[in-house]
Amino acid sequence: MALDRNSGPNDLSAFWMPFTANRQFKTAPRMLVGAEGMYYRTADGRQVLDGTAGLWCCNAGHCRPKITEAIQKQAAELDYAPAFQMGHPKAFELASALRDMAPKGMDHVFFTNSGSESVETALKMAIAYHRARGDGARTRLIGRERGYHGVNFGGISVGGIVTNRKMFGSLLTGVDHLPHTHLPDQNAFTRGQPEHGAHLADELERIVALHGAETIAAVIVEPMSGSTGVLLPPKGYLERLRAITKKHGILLIFDEVITGFGRLGSSFAAEHFGVMPDMMTTAKGLTNGVIPMGAVLTTAEVHDAFMQGPEHMIEFFHGYTYSGNPIASAAGLATLETYREEGLFENAAALAPYWEDALHALKGLPHVIDIRNMGLIGAVELEPIAGEPTKRAFTAFLNAFEKNLMIRTTGDIIAMSPPLMINKAQIDELFGKLTDVLKALD
Ligand SMILES: Cc1ncc(COP(=O)(O)O)c(C=O)c1O
Repeated sequence: MALDRNSGPNDLSAFWMPFTANRQFKTAPRMLVGAEGMYYRTADGRQVLDGTAGLWCCNAGHCRPKITEAIQKQAAELDYAPAFQMGHPKAFELASALRDMAPKGMDHVFFTNSGSESVETALKMAIAYHRARGDGARTRLIGRERGYHGVNFGGISVGGIVTNRKMFGSLLTGVDHLPHTHLPDQNAFTRGQPEHGAHLADELERIVALHGAETIAAVIVEPMSGSTGVLLPPKGYLERLRAITKKHGILLIFDEVITGFGRLGSSFAAEHFGVMPDMMTTAKGLTNGVIPMGAVLTTAEVHDAFMQGPEHMIEFFHGYTYSGNPIASAAGLATLETYREEGLFENAAALAPYWEDALHALKGLPHVIDIRNMGLIGAVELEPIAGEPTKRAFTAFLNAFEKNLMIRTTGDIIAMSPPLMINKAQIDELFGKLTDVLKALD
């Protein structure tokens, strides 16, 4: 039977939905059928303010004409071309455009299809880099508690969110974790970067002393942790991590899947914090979320270590069928142009203080125990209901959607990250609705 795509599908059973309470959803589906600019349209015809840029990815807003046109044109011109031993111009163009946008020194780009694949690629690249230089004992990977690096085995091994790890066996061996940086007793309700916690980077010295620097390939962190519920790096923390990794010859990987492409009001968090890693993982905002694509950016030092041996030989035995896909590349180019032409990163930076004030005005509302922000990111942490963790925030999410506002929750934390095209009136609309939701919570 044909589906009526405008009113919604007629059978919900086949699709096993990712990171979703499937049974709850299927009893009361929340179906989006259209989008434009800052708003989604629901199957029942409501306009819903997108407070989360989809999943932190539609930084330019929805159905932007330049991106749509680029995809349509590319699909009609060159639909697919392999990137193994073959090339097509747009992938090279996009790699150059990314390099030009990235902090100076990020000279090379390896394409993937998602954040998870970018992480997997970067971890493999780090281990292989050391081996290529004759330092093959460096195989250990260091992540951080509460870190989120996607869902593949490498990513969940270095990641630090227990629900994403505990069901999946013993994971990768040779992995250790830094402590997380959340210190609510000292830092609650801080605006921007917290004062306390830089010393937590020194835990890397303890890990080095335990394992030996000569066994450690890389440290991977989100410069600002997003998915765990928005944890900002304490002042001085990233600088210390950089100094310690450099001292011990350990590569530093910034997972910029969320922080990349203007979220903090700068192109990347590395630029925002003035700390240069050896590699950056990206995805999401690279194509405005429209077509799956990710990219790993590396320094020339990392890249050049591979460029040795006979010239007919493959230097890095890694890649995906869709690495640098033509349609994704066209979408990426149009996305970066849209960011530049519309000054969207500048808009995010200009509106960040207004956003911060509006967000922190929620202090004092029922159950609010912390508020955190940076750029166009905000989090409101709620006191969990005793014995029913996550339920209070999930109720807030459901009630917000009823009020035509899309937010995201993780644990008992509400996270917001709107498209960067937002204006002051829409910020007022967002926090006005959220205030009503919070006031009505049990
Ligand atoms: C920091 C970080 N890394 C990796 C990922 C995984 O990206 P994807 O879902 O595209 O695999 C995410 C997704 O939210 C992320 O926030």
